[in-house]
Amino acid sequence: MTVQISPSILSADFTNLSHELGRISDADWAHVDVMDNHFVPNLTLGLPVVERIVQVSPIPIDAHLMIADADRWAPQYAEVGAQSVTFHAEAATAPIRLAREIRRLGARAGMALRPATSIDPYLDLLPELDMLLIMTVEPGFGGQSFLDSMLTKIARTRAAISEQNLDVWLQVDGGISRSTIERAADAGANVFVAGSAVYGAQDIPAEIATLRDLAAQHTH
Ligand code: DX5
Ligand code: ZN
Repeated sequence: MTVQISPSILSADFTNLSHELGRISDADWAHVDVMDNHFVPNLTLGLPVVERIVQVSPIPIDAHLMIADADRWAPQYAEVGAQSVTFHAEAATAPIRLAREIRRLGARAGMALRPATSIDPYLDLLPELDMLLIMTVEPGFGGQSFLDSMLTKIARTRAAISEQNLDVWLQVDGGISRSTIERAADAGANVFVAGSAVYGAQDIPAEIATLRDLAAQHTH
């Protein structure tokens, strides 16, 4: 399984996004956190800004939509060119129809689970997805501590993906750093979001390379 690093621009300078995207050009994806002040108690940016980010980014956009009424809004992020669009299971009324719509529009379809949401009701839905995102903090803010209690959910989800012989990527988001990425990789994650760990580093390319190496050593 290939390890992929997706730095979150939530920890970047929002007044200088073009430059900030250039600083993570060694990564596989640029993770863009869309928050609407309803699904989570924080507000970031929306469709017009993501449309411009897609145009100026040297790497593909991994849009993480922490927004209510995902069925209505998520397809538009695929339409403006985000190469991966992840909606929250808790915010979608018809996740299968929504995942199919995102794929029809040419993007990879991702579905995210808040820490308290079980994977169990969604196991049969895995073939409809390109990626499952297990939140390892409560969504809404960067810089929080990794929730070790999510490791069993990661492992159970990876086992279910393998049992069904699927090629579904397993992403973790929240509190990922040099000190936690190995545990997440061991449990079965292969796509790693890191906001404060990457943008807080002195040497961003070196930090991305270190995270990638640590994860690769623990990926099976
Ligand atoms: C939080 C966001 C994350 C956030 C992670 O709700 O979804 O993507 O940027 O930040 P760190 O890596 O600092 O925990
Ligand atoms: Zn995120």
